[in-house]
Amino acid sequence: MLVFVPPHPLIKHWVSVLRNEQTPCPIFRNAMAELGRLLLYEASRDWLPTVTGEIQSPMGVASVEFVDPREPISVVPILRAGLALVEHASSILPATKTYHLGFSRDEETLLPTVYLNKLPDNFPEGSRVFLVDPMLATGGTIVAALDLLKERGLDNKQIKVISAVAAPPALQKLSEKFPGLHVYTGIIDPTVNEKGFIIPGLGDAGDRSFG
Ligand code: PRP
Repeated sequence: MLVFVPPHPLIKHWVSVLRNEQTPCPIFRNAMAELGRLLLYEASRDWLPTVTGEIQSPMGVASVEFVDPREPISVVPILRAGLALVEHASSILPATKTYHLGFSRDEETLLPTVYLNKLPDNFPEGSRVFLVDPMLATGGTIVAALDLLKERGLDNKQIKVISAVAAPPALQKLSEKFPGLHVYTGIIDPTVNEKGFIIPGLGDAGDRSFG
């Protein structure tokens, strides 16, 4: 597994806005959306298939290259907080499908339960999927989500995980279970407390995004 923390000043900026406990809900959500845009941009580098050709510009014939609209590219946000991180996905990724997955984590056991699954029975051949969840804490949720994707025909190389903050327990589980997976995150934090919160983290990303 490879973990990327893109060294970009805007990524550092939006993570810092998210960390601030004084950041109000609408600004928090906007910061999450901007961070998602940048991480998707970084994660799509060298990953999106393109087609080339020629096109007539007002001043002459030009060689052009577009993202191939025939290749299936999907975004899977994990509700709720993943919705904020994917808000700009459709404006930077041409022709994506969005499949929603809802997970809630039990406050005592920290185990995830799926309450909404809009995944297709099988992903089309050659699919590329961005799986998006801002917080990778104990890792229970992201592992359960990846299991659902793999049951539907995807291999590890067809999935990229996008997160705002990742913690060692989640990264450890991912590297053990999903070799070849790529994870893009705004930052890696040192630890998770007994209540399952990343320290120092951002607090509860779902509550801070949606009140
Ligand atoms: C949070 C977070 C992740 C999950 C991470 O969601 O957004 O989905 O917990 O925890 P884990 O790595 O320990 O499984 P939460 O259950 O709070 O739901 P919400 O987004 O609806 O607030």
